[in-house]
Amino acid sequence: MKKALITTGGGDCPGLNAVIRAIVKRAQQTNDWEVYGSMEAFNGVLRSPKEIIRLDDDKVAGIHARGGTILQTTSKGGPFNWPVQRADGSWTGEDRSEEMIYYLNKEGFKAVINIGGDGSQKISHELYKRGLNVIGVPKTIDNDLASTDYTFGFQTAVGIATDAVDKLVTTAESHHRLMILEVMGRGAGWIALHSALGGGAEVCLIPEIPYDIDKVLERLNQRYEAGKGFAIIVIAEGAKPKKGSVVARKSAEVGYQNVRLGGVAYQLSDQLKKAGFEHDIREMVLGHLQRGGTPTAYDRVLATQFGVKAMEMAINGEYGRMVSFLDHEITSVSLEKATQGQNLVDPEGFLVQTAKGVGISFGD
Ligand code: F6P
Repeated sequence: MKKALITTGGGDCPGLNAVIRAIVKRAQQTNDWEVYGSMEAFNGVLRSPKEIIRLDDDKVAGIHARGGTILQTTSKGGPFNWPVQRADGSWTGEDRSEEMIYYLNKEGFKAVINIGGDGSQKISHELYKRGLNVIGVPKTIDNDLASTDYTFGFQTAVGIATDAVDKLVTTAESHHRLMILEVMGRGAGWIALHSALGGGAEVCLIPEIPYDIDKVLERLNQRYEAGKGFAIIVIAEGAKPKKGSVVARKSAEVGYQNVRLGGVAYQLSDQLKKAGFEHDIREMVLGHLQRGGTPTAYDRVLATQFGVKAMEMAINGEYGRMVSFLDHEITSVSLEKATQGQNLVDPEGFLVQTAKGVGISFGD
């Protein structure tokens, strides 16, 4: 029997379980592949004792409809940055990739399917260059991965954010307030842009278009002067003013290398008050709600397509590549290409033009 190993890394995302189930089901049709899963990304391989489980029909039955990942996930640790405590109590990261690759090859893992975002796919690429048969599967609610038009989880997050806008409209209207909704999106404003359009916001602020507070104020005043006694702003967590920086803080969690974003809605609220906005404002940070719960049908379908494709790539020995959805086709791209750059909103693109066409201001 040939063995395939699945890992899920980085932030969780609705649809991960549907990918796992599809890989297992496609493998079963071959009769010569069996599938395993490492718990918490590669940490299950690096821990002692190992946390690697066999994935069979029973394990994956019905999981396509569940959010999260049955394999659990982490943004900490990993083969290139394994946390080790020094004698003085401080922490450092150790490169354990060689030892891990040796183990997986020795145990007969012919393919490793790593489902994750940009950080995870960089790990996929590095492991492939060092001799591991890796196949990447892109995931992120932010939809910011290069070389794929869409990632699963994004539509679910947009649905949740749009629902939040709808709910904020009724309370904003009742109180004559401006409601500021902060959504996820570190470097890419896709969730903000889609939910602002879907929910009918007046202002949408995204990382790709630094905003001028006076322009934001101008649009809000225009709305209030027209007699509409409330307004909605959707802002991505990674948005920043023209003269200013993102709202971020360093995390004290051992092995966590990202900066933590969050709180830009409050900064915007203060800026608006200072600039002279006279009406009441309330802020709402939607946070991890956007990653939780049931994946939409669209995300389940996309995730299932990604899973089947990944397993077929394993069967055909197509390693060093990432599954991708390009021009309405499920295909693959080299990990080298997939890890270069990001999928960002084009400030001149059709979606921004559409938003401007219905009066949404980007503060530019
Ligand atoms: O990758 C998606 C994302 O949701 C970002 O938008 C967000 O900044 C980040 O993950 C937060 O992840 P966590 O809190 O799990 O580290």
